[in-house]
Amino acid sequence: MTLKINDAYVKNFIDDAALKAIQPEITAAQKTLLEGSGEGSDFLGWVDLPNNYDKEEFARIKVAAEKIKKSCDVFIVIGIGGSYLGSRAVIEFIKSPLYNNIKKDTPDVYFAGCNISAQSFNEIMQICEGKDVCINVISKSGTTTEPAVAFRLFRAMLEKKYGVEGARERIFVTTDKARGTLKAFSTEAGYETFVVPDDVGGRYSVLTAVGLLPIAVAGIDIDELMHGAADAAAEYKATSDIEKSACAKYAAIRNILYRQGKLIEIMVSYEPCAAMLNEWWKQLYGESEGKDNKGLYPSSVIFSTDLHSLGQFIQDGTRTVFETVLSIGDMGEKLAVPEDSANVDGLNFLAGVDLNEVNKTAMKGTVLAHIDGGVPNVILEIKDRSAYTVGHLIYFFEFACGVSGYTLGVNPFNQPGVEAYKKNMFALLGKPGYEDQKKVLEERLK
Ligand code: PA5
Repeated sequence: MTLKINDAYVKNFIDDAALKAIQPEITAAQKTLLEGSGEGSDFLGWVDLPNNYDKEEFARIKVAAEKIKKSCDVFIVIGIGGSYLGSRAVIEFIKSPLYNNIKKDTPDVYFAGCNISAQSFNEIMQICEGKDVCINVISKSGTTTEPAVAFRLFRAMLEKKYGVEGARERIFVTTDKARGTLKAFSTEAGYETFVVPDDVGGRYSVLTAVGLLPIAVAGIDIDELMHGAADAAAEYKATSDIEKSACAKYAAIRNILYRQGKLIEIMVSYEPCAAMLNEWWKQLYGESEGKDNKGLYPSSVIFSTDLHSLGQFIQDGTRTVFETVLSIGDMGEKLAVPEDSANVDGLNFLAGVDLNEVNKTAMKGTVLAHIDGGVPNVILEIKDRSAYTVGHLIYFFEFACGVSGYTLGVNPFNQPGVEAYKKNMFALLGKPGYEDQKKVLEERLK
């Protein structure tokens, strides 16, 4: 099985009666999602995406990826939120968190436009010196400030280096099929463009051109990624029975624990390559559920690293947390602890033992310690970190998020709260049209 949910370590906190009691709500939420009868139903394109995607564009993504691989040393992905987290998560999880430092025959990948830091921009620009560069600017709205500023900077860099004509061959744009300034500008400039479908929101867009182009440039098999997601879609759409569907069970457990006063879900992995996957998951669940003064706060840790920082809090701080542990069956890497005849460090009891086994043992010991400390642990077991499994995992989290959000009673597909900071920032920066708000804000900042 590609993904299994192990709920043995939530049994002390949730009894069978609680699971039975929430079943009708989960069934209703899944029905709402599949029938498209709930709030946000304009944004359900991701539900059938693994089968129902634009095959012509998919083929064009592969051709563009090959062109990019051949023509650059550095590939800059410009985007923020859902427009970069998915591709970065997949590349780092499957390849390495140190992707740019590993031996490979694909370009280095840098992510820009996901902050407004001069230091970060300058650093990436310095890295580009003397190297061939391509960029992929990704923005569904085509108007988000951070990627727009980054695109202006990197476009100028490319045009200086290669001329306007040369730069055109190195700029790839992923945006709305018709709307937004980025689309209009790309058409005029003659850039190759890819589409973010109207009915797919940013955080659900990793399996569109948004994620697929950067992922393919990193040498990951996007056919396998889609195949894994398609099999997951078939599996999770088939039933909402908590005892048969890992998705339904995950959505149920989260909602039950939330109602019991658990306010924070911590995504745990024992592999550093999952750090950005955690970030993608945090956006997916945080933006989907955190609204109307409701929702679990999604947090994350990498163990055993964070056992030496946040471990203390999790073990016996405020009892409002539960953990979801991503357990990877086969990491595809092995390393044994060496024998040392002097045994000065006393570690010979581990000589010859594979680090995967030590890591798994750390996980078992930690899960038991944490449940003893009053922290429920949900274990998500995945087979490996192949493209197929990752495609499955992405769909699992997306589908569970839709079901969980409807069970919580929110619209899991909007993000009204993201606008507040933007309005203030525009006003304070003097964007035309925000003059009144600027006065009010400046008064408040005095
Ligand atoms: O999930 C979302 O909708 C957001 O995180 C967006 O992806 C993010 O704000 C970037 O928006 P855009 O792609 O329009 O630039």
